[in-house]
Amino acid sequence: MYRIISKQEPAANIFTMVVEAPRVAKNCLPGQFIILRVDEEGERIPLTICDYDRTAGTITIVFQIVGATSLRLSELNVGDELADFVGPLGKPSEFCETPVEELKKKSILFVAGGVGTAPVYPQVKWLKEQGVPSDVIIGAKNKSFVILEEEMKAVAANVYVTTDDGSYGRSGMVTKCIEDLIAEGKHYDVCVAIGPMIMMKFCALTTKKYGIKTVVSMNPIMVDGTGMCGGCRLMVGGEVKFACVDGPEFDGHLVDFDQAMKRSAQYKTAEGRAYLKEQEGNTHHGGCGNCGGDK
Ligand code: NAD
Ligand code: FES
Repeated sequence: MYRIISKQEPAANIFTMVVEAPRVAKNCLPGQFIILRVDEEGERIPLTICDYDRTAGTITIVFQIVGATSLRLSELNVGDELADFVGPLGKPSEFCETPVEELKKKSILFVAGGVGTAPVYPQVKWLKEQGVPSDVIIGAKNKSFVILEEEMKAVAANVYVTTDDGSYGRSGMVTKCIEDLIAEGKHYDVCVAIGPMIMMKFCALTTKKYGIKTVVSMNPIMVDGTGMCGGCRLMVGGEVKFACVDGPEFDGHLVDFDQAMKRSAQYKTAEGRAYLKEQEGNTHHGGCGNCGGDK
């Protein structure tokens, strides 16, 4: 069992939890995720690792209430235990595989949208530990939804906060901030954008204009997290990929975001899942016969 060590609500309906999970904490790297179950009957939900402490054996997760399971998770308190906390899953960020001397030659911009700020943090922190400070844009609907600003300032070279309604920091969406920074003379070799799919789509379109290599972290529906159920199927550069084992990070200029967003929406209804089963055969949630999707 995985004990909750601390719990906070940094913004309305957005929670931070530190969970005791020594094996995950010992082995995880930035970019990876976990799948948890609140109880034995619970639905599996994937969450990107926001922070880890190898000495304390803890993992920090950040989540937003979007459905019954995340609501149930938010109702747990310090001392309560989770039934499952499986990970680390997925491939680490490609930074972890790149020689530090190569990284030091690059100017890196992170774009963190809303709750997507949480998975950006460990990457920026890890790069800082390697002596590679990076710039970060944090985008939020308004001031009350800005999270991890102080933590990010402690590990980034520069943090630019932008709010859609202009209530804090710069005004406008993250894509406007990217354009403004470039107009102000900033140069970037790599952009890592993590947030809602629509944000990642428009970030990738923006950076493509400037020839900036762009990495996105995809979070489609996931069930088993091991490449078996097909739930997280995506099209990347015309090829079928599975976010849980081939990702979650992909080349943002190759991801078919429109297809991914359409597929996520279809997954929400029984009719949509039946349609996907028809189209994709045994390679999606509902078609494998093991995941319970047919029930
Ligand atoms: P949000 O809707 O508040 O958006 C965050 C920021 O994204 C906005 O402030 C804006 O700057 C930018 N944005 C949104 N739409 C845009 C557009 N059309 N063009 C350019 N920029 C745009 O974010 P939220 O409510 O915190 O997001 C929740 C979503 O984020 C959920 O769908 C969740 O699944 C997803 N999420 C993704 C990841 C990931 O790993 N990719 C991690 C956590 C959460
Ligand atoms: Fe990726 Fe099942 S969650 S294949």
